[in-house]
Amino acid sequence: MNLKPDTLKRIDEVIPHYPNKRSASLPLLHLVQEDLGYISDEAVEWIAAKLGLQPINILELVTFYPMFRRKPIGRRHIKVCRTLSCALMGGYRTCAEFKKQFGCELGETSADGEATIEFVECLASCGTAPVVMIDEELHQKVDAAKAAELSEKIKQEGAAARR
Ligand code: FES
Repeated sequence: MNLKPDTLKRIDEVIPHYPNKRSASLPLLHLVQEDLGYISDEAVEWIAAKLGLQPINILELVTFYPMFRRKPIGRRHIKVCRTLSCALMGGYRTCAEFKKQFGCELGETSADGEATIEFVECLASCGTAPVVMIDEELHQKVDAAKAAELSEKIKQEGAAARR
């Protein structure tokens, strides 16, 4: 499996922190998802082998916890805050605009692979609600019009990259 050397190092460091290897399952899943963007079947088998467990032991965690993704994410990862301040200031309308722009539902990736849209909890910028993170960039006061602008920019970048 193609994990970055830094991820492999962190995995090897984290395992001895737990009294039994099984307890390291969740930290390993987080590290692998951070690196690959999702948890593939291959990742499930790899983690199980690493911890001396059966793949089903890992798979049941992946299916139980909603934060684990089973499919690759899009080129850009759009995270819309849905916590109180953002919800009151129109975060749901912002989200609806992103879904319309990319033609996909929450938790899904657009057909062209450009974007994955998700709701997240408070992004610690409540005074500038509604707030959206696109990959690691924070965007403030994102109303529907600004969501449309940001979407357009993402589509143009994607088109330019494909040329
Ligand atoms: S409620 Fe959205 S950033 Fe805090």
